[in-house]
Amino acid sequence: MQNSIRIIASNWWKEAVVYQIYPRSFKDANGDGIGDLAGIFSKVDYLTELGVDAVWLSPINTSPMFDFGYDISDYRAIDPVFGSMADFDALVAALHKRNIRLLLDLVVNHTSHQHPWFVESRASRESAKRDWYIWHNGKKGAPPNNWQSVFGGSAWEWDETTESYYLHSFLKEQPDLNWRNPQVKDAVFADIEFWLQKGVDGFRLDVVNCYYKDQQFRDNPLRLWGWRHPRPYELQHHVHDMSQPEMHPLLRDLRQLLDKYDATSVGEVLVDFSGDPELAAGYLGRDDELHMTFDFTLLDQKWDAKAMANVLRTWLNACGENWPTLAFNNHDRSRSYTRYAKRGESSQRAKILAALLLTMKGTPYLYYGEEIGMKDGSVSRAEMKDPVGIRYWPLAQGRDPARTPMLWDDSANGGFTSGTPWLPVNDDFAGRNVASEKNDPTSLWHWYRELLSLRKQHAALRLGDWKEIYGGKDVFAYRRTIGNESIDVFLNFSAKPVTLPPVEGKILLSNCSRHELQGALTGHEILMVQSNAVAR
Ligand code: GLC
Ligand code: CA
Repeated sequence: MQNSIRIIASNWWKEAVVYQIYPRSFKDANGDGIGDLAGIFSKVDYLTELGVDAVWLSPINTSPMFDFGYDISDYRAIDPVFGSMADFDALVAALHKRNIRLLLDLVVNHTSHQHPWFVESRASRESAKRDWYIWHNGKKGAPPNNWQSVFGGSAWEWDETTESYYLHSFLKEQPDLNWRNPQVKDAVFADIEFWLQKGVDGFRLDVVNCYYKDQQFRDNPLRLWGWRHPRPYELQHHVHDMSQPEMHPLLRDLRQLLDKYDATSVGEVLVDFSGDPELAAGYLGRDDELHMTFDFTLLDQKWDAKAMANVLRTWLNACGENWPTLAFNNHDRSRSYTRYAKRGESSQRAKILAALLLTMKGTPYLYYGEEIGMKDGSVSRAEMKDPVGIRYWPLAQGRDPARTPMLWDDSANGGFTSGTPWLPVNDDFAGRNVASEKNDPTSLWHWYRELLSLRKQHAALRLGDWKEIYGGKDVFAYRRTIGNESIDVFLNFSAKPVTLPPVEGKILLSNCSRHELQGALTGHEILMVQSNAVAR
């Protein structure tokens, strides 16, 4: 009976706006060219000024950095390059003082090959931790099956010491944990609780649908691909090494642990092609598994009102009673400003995307620099750090272009570091940085800030129901309603004027100097109209 009692946690995470920081690239406090916790600490007031409610830090735990922190060798420690535990505690306190919550990246599909668990596991076939990872003798001198690493090549690595293969869904320096072993679960849950007790408010779960693998190790079906495929390293359908049903009960247990601390979770669900909203939403359970997941189809849309409406409608439908997220950027993908670049239209498009992100139904996730219209950096082969970029150069450019340093001002290195930055600073930093954006009242930065503040003022924007109100070719329009309040949002994706359907109420926001609700929407117009049902 005891077990069936669910703790009712609050829903703060539905109302929050999350800001993702890639710690290496946000702010360097000690001049070694790498961003750190003290750097983030020095910018907490910036986060308050912008108006976000939570921060998600990409991994900060001890790591040999083969995949820049997504390969952890000590889950309970801070990597010295980012600072100390004291720096971490100070950051948590500074954020909490400003009512900003903190999410950490939980990378537990795999550990680093230098994690003591793996070191022990690989030492001998008799090791107590042997079964904490996935070992196999292979078949006739070859790997046990055809599974491929997401980063390319066989997912199996031959290990001389014990003459057997271990599985790595990513780099060979990232061996996969064996989640079928209950000791692994206990150890990882204990590490999770360690951070919860330190005051962490939730986790982003790295590749959350990869933990379990087919017990029979069946081959994956191959798939066709062409030269022009954007991710040429994806060669097969990951039918048997991803998305196994055993994940669901594990997530229900995790949810209970998180709810005890009123903490949240958001899962990264990997799929073969662009995204799979049904699959992603499937990990929400009946609001009893993950709190949130990402739908990556949102990051793969061309600039088109209809396509965007389709994809968002599909995502919201897939979530059903559960809660969606919205994100147009992250550390693995080309930045939205670059994806939607078009001569003479880029900045208007960025404003439309910001309005969409912050007025649609769901928890918005911003990625550092998005608020100032940061572009992908250009990173040459010699400067490249991302192992994926290095492996596939020049076929694919890797992920470094989306991870270049934050542009704070027009001083050397954009104010990111006094040393040599670990990745090149975007060369246009003098023209567009936080300081210059703040100085210009019509900037993208002010636009984000205004939207964030409107969102804070209007429960309809945070929690309201969502309904499409106009199905034009170029305009995406919807209504958010809660109680008596409803807010209509019109987004003209095109550069041309478009007829405005009849609408009544008070203009809440416009990117043109509109004073009345007459006439057409001008090109790239963004319009928000508030009405209340009583007045209607
Ligand atoms: C996720 C992360 C990515 C990382 C990979 C392996 O996809 O977002 O950055 O390389 O997992 O951990
Ligand atoms: Ca540093």
